[in-house]
Amino acid sequence: MTAGWSSESRPSPTRLGPRRFEGQVALITGASRGIGLGIAKRLNAEGATVVLTARKPDALAEAVAEFPTGTALGIAGKADDPAHRAEVFDTVAEKFGRLDMLVTNVGINPVYGPTVDIDLDAARKILDVNVLGTLAWVQGAVHHERLGFRRNRGRIVSVSSVAGSTPSPGIGFYGVSKAAISHLTTTLAVELGPDIRVNAVAPAVVKTSFARALYEGREDTVAEAYPLKRLGTPEDIGAAVAYLASSDADWITGQVLTADGGLIAAGGTA
Ligand SMILES: NC(=O)c1ccc[n+]([C@@H]2O[C@H](COP(=O)([O-])OP(=O)(O)OC[C@H]3O[C@@H](n4cnc5c(N)ncnc54)[C@H](OP(=O)(O)O)[C@@H]3O)[C@@H](O)[C@H]2O)c1
Repeated sequence: MTAGWSSESRPSPTRLGPRRFEGQVALITGASRGIGLGIAKRLNAEGATVVLTARKPDALAEAVAEFPTGTALGIAGKADDPAHRAEVFDTVAEKFGRLDMLVTNVGINPVYGPTVDIDLDAARKILDVNVLGTLAWVQGAVHHERLGFRRNRGRIVSVSSVAGSTPSPGIGFYGVSKAAISHLTTTLAVELGPDIRVNAVAPAVVKTSFARALYEGREDTVAEAYPLKRLGTPEDIGAAVAYLASSDADWITGQVLTADGGLIAAGGTA
């Protein structure tokens, strides 16, 4: 028998401590499925009222229905649309009168192939949604007069990627956009302290529809490169975000927490 976990290993059962976010409001972009939904569920399980966004209203409504009544709200729209962002922030102000946590999770990667050949319009779209979109959500939260984000000692957590620190074949320009998010995180942390903490999580492959092409039909082979011998789950990332957003991380800002089952330490790439 070999040491370590088999590829069948599952994350340890979550043992939730005190409800760290009781009375708080969290906004999570891109949360009708995948990592965003995993984050929303964890913050909600720890007491937060959660506001979820996504483009498709039906899937968003189905996701909201998975939460205890009255503790989740969905607002459909495109993350890079200024009118949608304004609607979200105004609605949060009207319904809840506060915002405590902002999780900028939306990220797109519409192209696959060598970066040197990328269509520049596609590259612009990636930067618009992933980088400027992230910045715009932060601007909206920080500057909205009725959300009290600064007064509430607001916390921002952005979803970056290991592709932002290590060149990843086929998804190079997406990695460039994620590197920008990581640097945006450190820059904003310096500017927004001492009231607001800004951190990011950088996952390797997490089992969602976004990453399916990277592992479908060969999950065990892909997981072999990970010291922990399994791919990530939305719950893994939800736990990491909850830590960074909680008072347990009160002295932590400007950090990008790699959540990758050890992949990068082992010299791998996403
Ligand atoms: N999965 C991975 O292996 C992995 C690894 C590292 C980093 N990430 C990052 O994690 C984040 C979430 O990825 P995921 O794997 O959870 O993807 P996913 O399962 O495809 O979920 C994406 C979510 O975002 C919404 N969304 C997508 N584009 C949007 C847009 N332009 N405006 C508003 N909502 C939008 C989707 O709903 P609609 O389609 O209805 O809009 C859905 O709710 C991304 O930033 C991604 O780069 C993922």
